[in-house]
Parts: sequence; C-alpha cells; structure tokens
Amino acid sequence: MHFIKLDAIGSTNDYLKDLAKRLALDNFTVVTAESQTAGRGQRGSSWNSEPGKNLTMSVYYRFSDVDTQRLFVLNAAVSIAIVSALKAAEIPNLTVKWPNDIMSGKKKIGGILIENNVKTATEFESVIGIGLNVNQANFEGLPNAGSLYTESGRLFEKDEIGIQVAQSLKKQLLSLKTEDGKIWKEYNESLFRKGKPTVFKDEFGKQFMGIIVGASRDGLLKILHEDDSVKSYGIKQVAMLY
Ligand code: BTN
Repeated sequence: MHFIKLDAIGSTNDYLKDLAKRLALDNFTVVTAESQTAGRGQRGSSWNSEPGKNLTMSVYYRFSDVDTQRLFVLNAAVSIAIVSALKAAEIPNLTVKWPNDIMSGKKKIGGILIENNVKTATEFESVIGIGLNVNQANFEGLPNAGSLYTESGRLFEKDEIGIQVAQSLKKQLLSLKTEDGKIWKEYNESLFRKGKPTVFKDEFGKQFMGIIVGASRDGLLKILHEDDSVKSYGIKQVAMLY
C-alpha cells in the first residue's frame, strides 16, 4: 500500500481523482489529510471534520471483470471492512445504517463517499472516500454524530486506525469477486435497526412504521410494513427517522 499524507487539502477524494487522471496509480494508493477545507459527503452535503482529530482518507482501486450494474456490492464491502477494523479496536455496538453510515450505538461515527469512473461494462476505477470521527469530542449542532472517543471513552492514534481500515479494506476488495455471498451476508447482519420497529418517512413526506428486513444486491432497502407487505426503497425514496 502506498500512503500519501497531506496536511491540508480541499477534499482527499478530489485530490485522488485528479491524481488518477494524470498518473497511472497503483491499486490501494491511499491519501489522508489532517484537514479538509471542502470535504464532501453523500448527496451533495459537506463533510466537516475537526482538523487533526479525525481520519479523512481516500483509497484508489481499479476493478476489472466486475459487473458494473452491480456496484452496490462495493458499498457493502467497504462498510463491513470499516466495521471489522473498528471491531478489532473494540468500539461498541457497531452497525451500518443503510446504505453506508457507520454507527456506534445511535451515533454516526463515519461515512463513505465512493466515486466511480466507469470505463467499460466490466471495468471501472473507484475513489473510496472514508471519513471516520476518531478523537473529536464535541459535535455542536449535530446531535446524532459521535466519534470513537465519545463512544468508547478512549483516545486513539488516528494514523494507526487509518492503517487498520486500509488493510481491512484491501482484504475485502480482494475478495469481492470470490466472496460476494459472504459480503452480502455480513452486510445484512450488520444493518442498523434490522428487525426493530422503526419510523420512516417516504419520498412524499408520509411517515410510516416498518421493520427493516434487509438490503437487496441492487442496493434497495427492504421494509416490512404493518400490512405484512415488503416494499423496496431506493436512497431517495425513504429516510429513517431517529
Ligand atoms: C457521508 O456523507 O456520510 C460521507 C462522508 C465521506 C467523507 C469523506 S472524508 C474523505 C473523503 N473526502 C471527501 O471529500 N469526502 C470523503
């Protein structure tokens, strides 16, 4: 693995995407930054992280012989790679809030932003961005956010956590083609609030009670409704209400 450590940058994902345009990068080229000035999150949001306290990293990987119609498996593999690294660090109550928020108990401690550049039907390159709150103690105005520190009461060597996450990611990505079934099983077993009655809001703003039964391979969330029907939802069609 090749690590590039930056002091400050707009976004590690943007930096790595730009580098990939100019150079032939090795797989598992990892970029980390002490601080991001324009960190990006899911669905156009920004990702704010206290400088020097947390992990902000991006990993480059070029896939071949993978069905680009089935890219959601990559989200699942990255999510369980992070959970597995954090389990080893004894972080309590780890789950994945669909599709890929990393949770400890009820707090979001990490997020994933994967940006793919599809080359052919079976070939694509990915920049896998990971933001993990490590030693940050305060999350003003973000009642649902936490860090490894707030949830475990321990401070961590963030570079060490970064190496553990990168190694775990390498293991999962190398098994993507052969262990696809295992990845799905683990991802589904790790889902936040699976099997528990939960309040959701649909795309029309209507609230309903349902129970998560799992996620399908195309990335849809399957929810059991009170009338016993199971419906599948895409990312823009449902939100879980805390
Ligand atoms: C989310 O919204 O949950 C995803 C957050 C992803 C943040 C990481 S930090 C490293 C990489 N660079 C970015 O600009 N974003 C990702």
